[in-house]
Order: sequence, then structure tokens, then C-alpha cells
Amino acid sequence: MAFTKKPLFLLLITSLAIAQMAMAGDPDILTDFILPPNSPPPDPSFFTFTGMRSLVTDPIPPTFKVIKASMEQFPALNGQSVSYAVLIYPGGSVNPVHTHPRSSELLFLAQGSLEVGFVDSTNKLFIQTLQQGDIFVFPKGLVHFQYNSDAKNPALAISAFGSANAGTVSLPNSLFNSTINDDVLALSFKTDVATIQKLKAGLKG
Ligand SMILES: *[C@@H]1O[C@H](CO)[C@@H](O)[C@H](O)[C@H]1NC(C)=O
Repeated sequence: MAFTKKPLFLLLITSLAIAQMAMAGDPDILTDFILPPNSPPPDPSFFTFTGMRSLVTDPIPPTFKVIKASMEQFPALNGQSVSYAVLIYPGGSVNPVHTHPRSSELLFLAQGSLEVGFVDSTNKLFIQTLQQGDIFVFPKGLVHFQYNSDAKNPALAISAFGSANAGTVSLPNSLFNSTINDDVLALSFKTDVATIQKLKAGLKG
């Protein structure tokens, strides 16, 4: 079993409070909630997301894993301006550099230790080593990462977002796993096409 039930429960309570505090960023809606088109009247299960139950039962994954509870996975969030992600970092793993275009991120470190960092719009890097129980905020839209440098112990974090659909733009994928022309990339990075192709090769699925 990856994580015992009791701490997880406490953590979820804590993070619920975090989500409440997260600043709303999505447009206000004019109804209590939004139902998907052609759906029957909602019952409590519409407002319930059970996709995190696997955390209690599943072993630590071999590579970095994120379980999202945003609008796509949990349609009741549509119009509510909040969402969650649970992030699991086996020893030595990284959540590669990325941004969230529509929300800041409030990360609560539930287990382990974690190196986090973001770069502001003047290219200044802010890095921190978080201990279990710490909270870190990644400002909206800025490039950031998390790294579990402890090769032996996993880390687990819960992130709250002030959008039902914060979005994730992965820099490695956007730049080197899309179809941007090699020449454009070589000129952009002031390097040669061979170097760009090497970077692209490493990301092929
Ligand atoms: C690169 O893109 C392909 C196709 O979209 C995808 O299957 C693969 O997972 C991506 N690579 C990484 C490292 O995410």
C-alpha cells in the first residue's frame, strides 16, 4: 500500500481548505452549477469524484505520475473555478518544466521532500526545498518544475488550481515534440539542426 488511509484523509481535508482559498479565475456562472448537455437531473454522485481512491490502494508508480481532478475528469467542476491534481514522485523523478496558462498553482507537500522552482518574467529563478507539510505557490502562467532529488523515498503533493481547467503546457513537448520546423528551432536556440533533432528524438513517444 502506497499511503496509509489516515494521513491521506487529513491531507485531503487540509487541501480542501486550500482550494477554497484559491482565487477564482474563471468567469462567473449565472446558475448554481452546470450540467453537461442532455444529462438527467444531478444526484450527489454528479458532485463526487472517486478517481483518487487508487492512491490508497495502488503501489508507488515507477515514474512521475499525476492524477487530475479537473473539468475533463470531473464535469461538475465546470463553472466552479477550482480543480485539483495529485502528484506522485518516485525517488529521483521530475515533473518536467511546464506552465499552466489559466491558473496559479498552490502545491501542498503531503509526503517526502521536494525541490520546486519557477522563473519569473524577468528570468529570475526562485527555488525552494519543501519539507512535508509545506505549501508553495507557483504564480499563474510562469514556467515551473518539481524534482524529488531523494533517490530512495517517494514524495506526494496535492495541487489546487483557481480554474476548473488550468491547462498544462509542457515546454519539452511544446518545443521539441510538436511539429515546429527544425530550422526555426535551431535559429531560436542559436544552435544547429542536428542538436534540435537530438532533442526531438529523446521525446518521441
Ligand atoms: C510526444 O508526442 C507523442 C505524440 O503526441 C506522444 O505519444 C508522446 O508521449 C510525447 N512524448 C512525451 C515525452 O511526452
